[in-house]
Amino acid sequence: MASDWFPDSWRSKRVDQEIVYPDRAALRESVENLAQLPPLVTSWEIENLKSQLAEAARGNQFLLQGGDCAENFHDCRPDAIACKLKILLKMSLVLIYCGKKPIIRVGRLAGQYAKPRSSDIETRGETTLPSFRGHLVNRLGFTPEERTPDPKNLLRAYERSAMTLNFVRGLIDGGFADLRHPEHWELGFVAHSDMAKEYRQMVDQIGDAVTFMETIGGQSLGHLNRVDFYTSHEGLHLEYEESQTRQVPHRSGWYNLTTHYPWIGERTRLLDGAHLEYFRGIANPIGVKIGPSITPKTLLELIDHLNPENEPGRLTFIHRFGADQIEKILPPLVEAVLKEGRNVLWCSDPMHGNTTTAHNGRKTRSFDAILTELKRAFAIHRKMGSVLGGVHFELTGENVTECTGGARGLTESDLDRAYLSDVDPRLNYEQALEMAFLIGRNMAG
Ligand code: PEP
Ligand code: CO
Repeated sequence: MASDWFPDSWRSKRVDQEIVYPDRAALRESVENLAQLPPLVTSWEIENLKSQLAEAARGNQFLLQGGDCAENFHDCRPDAIACKLKILLKMSLVLIYCGKKPIIRVGRLAGQYAKPRSSDIETRGETTLPSFRGHLVNRLGFTPEERTPDPKNLLRAYERSAMTLNFVRGLIDGGFADLRHPEHWELGFVAHSDMAKEYRQMVDQIGDAVTFMETIGGQSLGHLNRVDFYTSHEGLHLEYEESQTRQVPHRSGWYNLTTHYPWIGERTRLLDGAHLEYFRGIANPIGVKIGPSITPKTLLELIDHLNPENEPGRLTFIHRFGADQIEKILPPLVEAVLKEGRNVLWCSDPMHGNTTTAHNGRKTRSFDAILTELKRAFAIHRKMGSVLGGVHFELTGENVTECTGGARGLTESDLDRAYLSDVDPRLNYEQALEMAFLIGRNMAG
């Protein structure tokens, strides 16, 4: 780690997406408070994840990252959390089965509370207020009281992250993820879906294979009742991230202990900005979102800044170009990385480059555009001799209507029925599961 880096050295740089708190003293108090509280994750989990991500970059494992665009405080409920875990577990099972690789499961979860916005302010009629920035910062209601950034939200977000993670860990430790009992992951409302039928057939076949292996071996396959599950969020709010950035006994370096795998957003990846400065010094594996404005030169500079030692597993590029642009933008980037021999994990986010506005004003994404971008991502990497090692989705285990298309053929007129996202549209349960089957086929070649 560079000797000129400290958890607060970002403060001397320009902060993009800066949040202006009217009460600076209260912000300081919240941050000091957070700095005293126990970490949410541990350095050995973080290092385990990093070595798994290094395997994904080599094509030996595959990353499945997904969850809400923005978590919110009222969805910190047992049913909502269990639903998210269930859909990620189901998708991962499909990917293992079809893609024949171990899956690294990472939720956009237990801390995905801060959002970048295209404008700092929102105007309605005569009134202008700060934009909604996620529950880490303020609330959605269009009143001065709700929109004013409140430093207490930092503590509330930390506490809800801890509660979410505690419940996820409890479910997993209790055998919720046991391969022999996938009925735990059933979601009542999908009993009649075609996708559920295909899924159940697959589960039956896995069950038969497990019984067969256990019979042959004469003992139970103990490790089947446990899975690793990691957390991630956009590391947007640097005061929050800094507050839990620590050194740990018996290891060198500094760890961000609010999450295993933070990422830098497309809007904050500026080379001379505060986010790059903060991220370069932490030991966690990190992601960087890259959109259509990226060039091979900037990409290599990002690598120089963020992974000068070329450590495997350290750096993931999450590309989100849109189905129409990926074929133009991705190949020169892959070529530059291959030519320079840099270790990066490539991950496709087929959501953020495919957002459109429906006739009723809703933000939406089409299942076909999402799938097209993904298929193109697999094909480009394969053709160029590199590896697409992961996928990144906005999804939910609930029965929402936010993205169009999929086996049930949702149209724009269905969007009003169950549009629950505060920010970006998510794949619903069925669309996510269908996507997993389709990706599995692409992984298999
Ligand atoms: C997001 O992941 O919700 C997001 C804002 O993405 P991006 O930074 O790629 O726009
Ligand atoms: Co989003």
